[in-house]
Amino acid sequence: MNARVLISRPVNQQAIDDLAKRCQVQVHPFDAPMAQEVLGRELATVDGFMPCGQIVGRDAIALASKLRVIANIGAGYDHIDLDACNTRRIVVTNTPDVLSEATADTAFALLLSTARRLIEGDRYVRAGTWSHWQWNFLWGADLHGKTLGLYGCGRIGQAMACRGRGFSMRILYHARHRLPTSLEHEFRAELVDKQTILRESDFLSLHVPSTTETRHSIGKAELALMKPSAFIINTARGNIIDEEALVQALAAGQIRGAGLDVFENEPKVHPGLMRLNNVTLLPHIGSATAETRSRMAGLAAQNLIAFLDGRRPPNVVNPQVLD
Ligand code: 8YV
Repeated sequence: MNARVLISRPVNQQAIDDLAKRCQVQVHPFDAPMAQEVLGRELATVDGFMPCGQIVGRDAIALASKLRVIANIGAGYDHIDLDACNTRRIVVTNTPDVLSEATADTAFALLLSTARRLIEGDRYVRAGTWSHWQWNFLWGADLHGKTLGLYGCGRIGQAMACRGRGFSMRILYHARHRLPTSLEHEFRAELVDKQTILRESDFLSLHVPSTTETRHSIGKAELALMKPSAFIINTARGNIIDEEALVQALAAGQIRGAGLDVFENEPKVHPGLMRLNNVTLLPHIGSATAETRSRMAGLAAQNLIAFLDGRRPPNVVNPQVLD
């Protein structure tokens, strides 16, 4: 009961209550990230931390002398300095699976919205300038029979494949590991190399984590291989795409459009993207549904409680510190 835990935002009360049964809980009262100096001060006295949308950098970790576990509320953990945690033997956990369907919904919504120019249509109606029905107006792109390329095919990529099949799309995927044959059959998905997925996709949706290998892995050369009619969808991490190269490719008509929920320097968005009509921009809301956010906070709390109880948390991302 003596362990002290900090939660970086006022998340779902149920998760806070579950934790409070096991330890002393302190909730940072604002739904906004803390500056690193503030975080360092807050972490100085706690044993556990549940961050969400919070950079946890080396300097803050250095001040967290008692910290033994970081239970991230989210699947991606690129905002946490894992090397610093490993050195200090701090266990880090995440919340995979529980957000896959919601994130795939966002990716598919971006795909549909960008292909069928929904945001442009909405802006046009609201501007009050709609005077008559037109034949040749806001023509978009069909989905039916088109090729959906999945760059990365983990749990969110597979949920996206399922949606693509529902819209009668051909599914290609590029991933480090081949899917089990049963899943390849279910999605009628074909594993291809990077060049093929870039060349053949009508819609390329990104589902890889942010790592040193994936950073800027879609850049000028990759965009140049894509069809001029192709769309790119990103609900993974902004830095997988070289944003400057994307702006240039979109502006030059090298690809037709983009649907983006994530950006290289969030919350800053490249001014070139802001100017383009063939781009749909969202403020990183991939997992933003009440049900999903509740499951994420709940799973993070379970991970933290398991650790405090001396059990192995279900979702450890740096198992080497436990072994
Ligand atoms: C969260 C996400 O909004 O889980 C992830 O990786 O990108 C989102 O679900 C994000 O983790 C908040 O930091």
